[in-house]
Amino acid sequence: MIKEISLLSYRNFRAHKFVFDSGINLILGPNGSGKTNLLEAIGYLSQAKSFRRVPDRNLIAWGETFFRIEAIFEKDGLNHNIAIFYDSETETKKISINNKVVERATILFSTLPSLISSDRDQDIIDGPPRERRRIINRLISITSSEYMRLIQDYSKVLENKNFLLRNKKVDEIKPWNQKQQQLSIEIVRHRKKFMEKIKDHFLTLSQEFLKGKKAQVTYVPSADEETSFDSFIKEELERGHSFHGPHRDSIEFLIEGKPAKIYASEGEKRLIILAFYFTFLNIYNPNSMVILDEPFSVLDKRGVELVLSHLNTQSFISAPYFDLESSKISKVIEL
Ligand SMILES: Nc1ncnc2c1ncn2[C@@H]1O[C@H](COP(=O)(O)OP(=O)(O)OP(=O)(O)O)[C@@H](O)[C@H]1O
Ligand SMILES: [Mg+2]
Repeated sequence: MIKEISLLSYRNFRAHKFVFDSGINLILGPNGSGKTNLLEAIGYLSQAKSFRRVPDRNLIAWGETFFRIEAIFEKDGLNHNIAIFYDSETETKKISINNKVVERATILFSTLPSLISSDRDQDIIDGPPRERRRIINRLISITSSEYMRLIQDYSKVLENKNFLLRNKKVDEIKPWNQKQQQLSIEIVRHRKKFMEKIKDHFLTLSQEFLKGKKAQVTYVPSADEETSFDSFIKEELERGHSFHGPHRDSIEFLIEGKPAKIYASEGEKRLIILAFYFTFLNIYNPNSMVILDEPFSVLDKRGVELVLSHLNTQSFISAPYFDLESSKISKVIEL
C-alpha cells in the first residue's frame, strides 16, 4: 500500500506531500482543485503513464521543464521507495525503485498493480469494442505477466504484418501469419479462461447492484483455432490491414440479455462496470490498489454505499462533495 506521495512540478502541484491510509482515502475538493491530478499521479506509480492518456510533457506544471513523483509504499511488511523523474528538454524518464534504476516500466505494474476507473469508463459500455478489449487486457495483465507479454508481442507482430499488407509484400507475410496465429491461440485461451472464471460471480453481483436485473459479458473470438490465418490473406491484402485475430475479438456487456449500451441507464452502466471490477478483485484477489475518479457522479445513495461496501484494498476515491456518514472511509484529504 502507498503510504505517502510527494509531487514536484506535477500539474497544479508545485511541491506537495500527501499521506494515505491503508483503507479508503476520499479526496474531496471543488472543480479544478486537483483531485484527478492527484489520482493520476498515484496511477502513474503503477503504469508509468497517465490514465488520461496524455503525453508526459502535459503533466509538467506550467512554466517548468520536469516533474518528479516520489512515493513510499509498504509491501510484505517492508517499506520501499519509488522515484519517477521526467525531463521534457531531454525527453527522458528515469524510474527507480529503492534507489536502483528500473529499465522496464512494466516492473512498476507488477510492483504496484492498480485498478483504475475514471469517467472514461463509460466508454467501456458505450464505446467501440477496442475499449472493452483494452479493459480485459488490463485486468488479465494484473494477474498474468505472461499475458501482458503476449499482448505486447502480438501488437508488434500486427504492426509488422500490417506494414507488409499495406506494401503488398505477399511473400513475406506467411511467417508473420504463423506468429500471429500462435499468439492469437494463447491470448484467446487466456481471455476464455478469464470470462469463464468471472461469469457466475459477475451475474450474482450485478443482480445485487442492479436490484435484481442481470448483467453479463459475452466474448466471441474473431478467429477460431482451426482456421489458418493464411486463409485470410486475400481479403487482408485488399483491405491493407489484418482484421482477424484478438485485436478484433468481440466483447459485449448485456443487461437482461440485451445490449447494455442501448438499454442500461447511465447509473446502471456505472454499476455494471463497478460490479465487473469488484468481481475481478474478488475472484483474483490481486491485492491491487483501487483508484476511482468520481465514481459517484451518476449514482444514488444506495449505489454509493454499495461501492464503498465492496472496497477491501487500499483505495483512492475522488468526489467534489460527500454528504453521507460512512464508517468505511478511513481518511479524507481535502484539496
Ligand atoms: N500541466 C499543468 N500545470 C499546471 N496546472 C495544470 C496542469 N494541467 C492541469 N492543470 C490544472 O489543474 C487543475 C486541476 O485539475 P483536475 O483535473 O485535477 O481537477 P479536479 O479537481 O479533478 O476537477 P473536477 O472536479 O472538475 O474534475 C485545473 O485547474 C487545471 O487547469
Ligand atoms: Mg476531476
